[in-house]
Amino acid sequence: MATLAPSPIHVRPFDAPLGADIEGVDLQRLDDAGFAAIKQAWLARKVLRLRGQDIDDDALADFSRRFGNLDRSPISTTGKLYQPTRPEVLVISNIIVDGVAIGGLGNGESIWHTDMSYNPVPPDASVLYGIEVPEGHGDTWFCDMEAALAALPEALRQRIATLSCLHDSTRNSAGELRAGFKESYAPEDQPGAVHPLIRTHPETGRKSLFLGRRRNAHVVGLPLAESQALLDELWSYAGRPEFTWVQKWRQGDVVIWDNRCVMHRRDEFDQGLRRLMHRTQIQGSKPF
Ligand code: SIN
Repeated sequence: MATLAPSPIHVRPFDAPLGADIEGVDLQRLDDAGFAAIKQAWLARKVLRLRGQDIDDDALADFSRRFGNLDRSPISTTGKLYQPTRPEVLVISNIIVDGVAIGGLGNGESIWHTDMSYNPVPPDASVLYGIEVPEGHGDTWFCDMEAALAALPEALRQRIATLSCLHDSTRNSAGELRAGFKESYAPEDQPGAVHPLIRTHPETGRKSLFLGRRRNAHVVGLPLAESQALLDELWSYAGRPEFTWVQKWRQGDVVIWDNRCVMHRRDEFDQGLRRLMHRTQIQGSKPF
């Protein structure tokens, strides 16, 4: 019996500075040539969406692993894994079963952030799969941080060229305290990781503004007030509508983004709706 040739892959860029739909891919049957096309499109467009997928955690992890080794999921508010047998798969959900949350982040807003940049070696990429999705609610926004950097006035860019910033590890993007951390710290004791404010992408060579998240951030070596003023100024460039694209979820969507040059946030949604997503994160390298 003749084997069917894989269908051609189409990359359809969104009308935005970043993001594209990948069409003609079934993640259960992705060959090396198909993956190479996806990887190339991803480096060019920073965020990709593959609609209509029907995969389990094994297939999600197998696809993610083609980009690199997988990171463990982030520390939760309880200190426990939502799926103890799958430490590499993070459950993001507002669903409560018998009084217990089956996943993290709930239904509130998740503020602009870069995944796990509070670690010395943050993940390169995250892959998010919409398993149960309330259409029209809980949209996820992505911001092109290369475009944000390019928009900075030259003097500001020069000023931050050699500066680094502390990325706070105590709270998740929903503002919840992670297990094992105190409510507050003196600025000099704030737990987290220090990274350059301008990051060079190790694969494309392009530069981005690398902010992580605003809460408890501190520019190393600056007095508190000066650090706050500088960060406020930098953040006024991040998240500008002209640098963003919004993902309106459908069940079966798989979205992969490049944490080295993209930030994301999620809209709040009604707790009466059910939303269930599984996420993997791909190990990266130390930002420079
Ligand atoms: C995340 O920050 O990875 C979650 C985004 C979402 O829930 O849409």
